[in-house]
Amino acid sequence: MAENVGVGLIGLGTVGSVVAARLIGSWELLTTRAGATPVLRRVAVRDPGKPRDVDLRSVPLCDDPFAVVDDPSVSIVVEVMGGMDAAAAAVERALQAGKTVVTANKALIARAGPRLWTLAESRGAGLWFEAAAGAGLPIVAVLRDSLRADSVNSLDAVINTTTNVVLTRMRNTGERLDEALLDAQRRGFAETDPSSDLDGWDASYKLVILAWLATGAPVSVDSVDRRGVRDIDRIDMAYTGQLGYSVKLLAHAEIRQQPGGVHLRVRPTAVPEGHPCFDADDSDNAVIITSDLAGTVVLRGVGGGGASTASAVLSDIVAAVRARARQPGPPHTQPRQLLSDEEVEVAGYLRLIVDDSADARALVLQALEDRGVPVIEAVDKPPLDGPFPQLIVLTGAAPRAVHDRALETLDTLSSVRQIAVSLDRVEPR
Ligand SMILES: NC(=O)c1ccc[n+]([C@@H]2O[C@H](COP(=O)([O-])OP(=O)(O)OC[C@H]3O[C@@H](n4cnc5c(N)ncnc54)[C@H](OP(=O)(O)O)[C@@H]3O)[C@@H](O)[C@H]2O)c1
Repeated sequence: MAENVGVGLIGLGTVGSVVAARLIGSWELLTTRAGATPVLRRVAVRDPGKPRDVDLRSVPLCDDPFAVVDDPSVSIVVEVMGGMDAAAAAVERALQAGKTVVTANKALIARAGPRLWTLAESRGAGLWFEAAAGAGLPIVAVLRDSLRADSVNSLDAVINTTTNVVLTRMRNTGERLDEALLDAQRRGFAETDPSSDLDGWDASYKLVILAWLATGAPVSVDSVDRRGVRDIDRIDMAYTGQLGYSVKLLAHAEIRQQPGGVHLRVRPTAVPEGHPCFDADDSDNAVIITSDLAGTVVLRGVGGGGASTASAVLSDIVAAVRARARQPGPPHTQPRQLLSDEEVEVAGYLRLIVDDSADARALVLQALEDRGVPVIEAVDKPPLDGPFPQLIVLTGAAPRAVHDRALETLDTLSSVRQIAVSLDRVEPR
């Protein structure tokens, strides 16, 4: 008969209820995969009196995460409650006690992953967090296990479902961001307070985790060059579409090997047709890894939701049971320099409101070239809200600092009324 391994669950919401149902209802399948039976022993929630969809049978329900951690019959603690302080306290306590932790908490792993990892190692425990990076996309396993011998050079990802649902709707319907957001909320793809998604925090957490796995570099979330989507105007969704682009909240990691350096950014970016992120629409997520040996690896699929995230959590539980207390292969810690704005190149999409004069266009393009920013294409557009015409400029690759200085110059030109929008752009191959 297979041995039993006690599992404690903290959180029984969107993710936790699917995890619990599977642990209870599909234990035979999980036993076959794990070589031992993960048995749900105790569950903590905020409000034990709330009606639940999942039938816990005789598993005790409480409102104290520490009661789950301290239960002597629990050797794997699954944290799917979210938040920072209470979750961190429970996870730390479990690791201190030498218990293995499985978590879906991206903020926790992005902010404290390397420290928790070291703690787990020192206590002979394991720390598993597949669901924290790409939810159901098995990106952690690919970076940690499949590309073990590769040097990863870059990561590009559409990894925030809320913004992707909103931007896709804006492009398809011509709606404003606030209208598209309401629809996403109605469909359950955006929270009542969507700040973490719209402001790029959620994508930054995931990017920091991916970069840590790819390089060993513990980059602070506050070092991510982060810009959210709140300023995206539907007119730019239309104009970029006409030029063969789709605007995505793109998470990008640039990794230099020698001399070593890393740059992480999350910005709304015009992505060209043919790029694997171009049509990763709505709830689809995509992650593109380029490495020296494997070349380009693309993962694509549903990036969130209860079932997809539970798939990753359950997979970690099975792997943790199989590995017993061992760590899932170390993301060796190897600090790297952050690349400066002089070292990182970007291409751009600009929308300018310009004077209605014959030489306005020529002055703008000349100023960009003079400042070291190549002009790839310029398109005149009629006035939108006022009397002045618009000029769309696609700029070629130049260091971010050069690009920013060129924008400052444009701002001083009398023929430029306003720099309405400046977006990053991925150049077509
Ligand atoms: N949902 C997704 O698509 C998704 C995707 C990737 C990662 N994640 C991550 O997975 C985690 C869980 O997300 P979720 O969507 O399942 O959240 P959720 O639906 O809000 O569920 C949270 C659960 O935690 C419980 N809880 C909250 N605070 C607690 C406390 N102080 N003590 C004990 N229990 C507490 C809640 O209890 P009550 O039920 O009593 O309120 C609830 O059962 C988060 O870290 C999230 O970032 C979620």
